[in-house]
Amino acid sequence: MRTQVGIIGSGPSGLLLSQILFLHGIDSVILERQSRDHVLGRIRAGVLEQSTVDMLRAASVGERMDREGLVHGGFSLAFDGRMEYIDMHKWTGGSGVMVYGQTELTRDLIEARMADGAVIEYEAPAVAIDGFLDGKPRIIYEKKGERRELLCDFVAGCDGYHGISRQSAGPGSIKEFEKVYPFGWLGILSDVPPVDRELIYTNHERGFALCSMRSHTRSRYYIQCDLNDNVDIWTDDAFWDELRRRLPETAAQKLVTGPRLEMSIAPLRSFVAEPMRFGALLLAGDAAHIVPPTGAKGLNLAASDVHYLSRALIVYYAEKRTDLLDRYSDTCLRRVWKAVRFSWWFTAMMHKFGDEPLCQRLQLAELDYLTGSEAARTAMAENYVGLPFDRFE
Ligand code: APR
Ligand code: PHB
Repeated sequence: MRTQVGIIGSGPSGLLLSQILFLHGIDSVILERQSRDHVLGRIRAGVLEQSTVDMLRAASVGERMDREGLVHGGFSLAFDGRMEYIDMHKWTGGSGVMVYGQTELTRDLIEARMADGAVIEYEAPAVAIDGFLDGKPRIIYEKKGERRELLCDFVAGCDGYHGISRQSAGPGSIKEFEKVYPFGWLGILSDVPPVDRELIYTNHERGFALCSMRSHTRSRYYIQCDLNDNVDIWTDDAFWDELRRRLPETAAQKLVTGPRLEMSIAPLRSFVAEPMRFGALLLAGDAAHIVPPTGAKGLNLAASDVHYLSRALIVYYAEKRTDLLDRYSDTCLRRVWKAVRFSWWFTAMMHKFGDEPLCQRLQLAELDYLTGSEAARTAMAENYVGLPFDRFE
């Protein structure tokens, strides 16, 4: 098989890239290790920055998001018995975020690609990539027990943290930066009305908690948990009890509980691989970087990589210009590092790292400063709604 852009991975990065390229007349094939049902069953975060929302609309996949998504103009920070509102709308001159689950977005993208006759090979793991440094890129993949090959001009490595794209670059040509946090997030999805109209991030002496949602009738809650916890030891009741203990009184009283639709534990990690381009192999999304979920930047960073990568490929095919491809890695990484910094800072301020009273007091002082200072609130709000894209034309 031959295509212009061979895409490994049908997460949001691979699907959105394929969709934008299609709209510009560029052909792609997606190879996905898992089945379509598996991809559609994954529960991930659900907060879209303004620029991600704009991109989805421009890519003709914003219709259901605009109908069903919830526009949020702020969120609350709870700490020390207080609940303070960060008015993103006010402090950014009118920006906000859209609450719309990544699962729904993935479904919209798959449906759009299928309607346009896209080739998405499911249960087709890429097992090797070669030729990307000498102008003959090739992806070897497996399908139904057979080895097949996909010849292409470019390989987009959109295969997440555990994919083969980054590993194919070779250890000598890549530099990796990593921090693993000493706790996880235990999340529940349940068909109960959310405790508040917008999100609440809570710093509590028992550990972090987050109240999020997918709709007016479906809630997503998280509590900081032990890294060694097994999800099987957590009953629904134990989860709701622990969440209630960590919420501010007013929210705890309004908490409606119900059976889980899903419960899982996510580890927290900050990770960046440099560079993001190796000849004709270009990494995007989780394949190149991971952030802890505090602030929900993962999907949004994937979208900003896809923004730069699609621009670079469109300009290449239209004008045979390679300058944007040459700048792809540097341009992405400037924005990536700022989001990695923000997610690390927000995580550090909100979680329990140990029993040291000094650390707890410092977190409370930071939260008190943040919510009391216009400059600090503005910095928080502009990072949360998403930093602007660099010009890349
Ligand atoms: N061959 C084919 N597909 C592969 C391979 C492989 N060797 N290895 C991994 N994949 C697939 C995975 O099964 C997955 O469907 O690549 C896809 C990667 O998707 P994601 O992990 O969702 O990564 P990405 O598309 O970059 O999405 C950005 O941001 O907040 C985070 O977790 C959030 O998934 C989201 C991510
Ligand atoms: C979610 O709804 O899953 C979510 C929201 C905000 C975050 C992380 C996750 O910061």
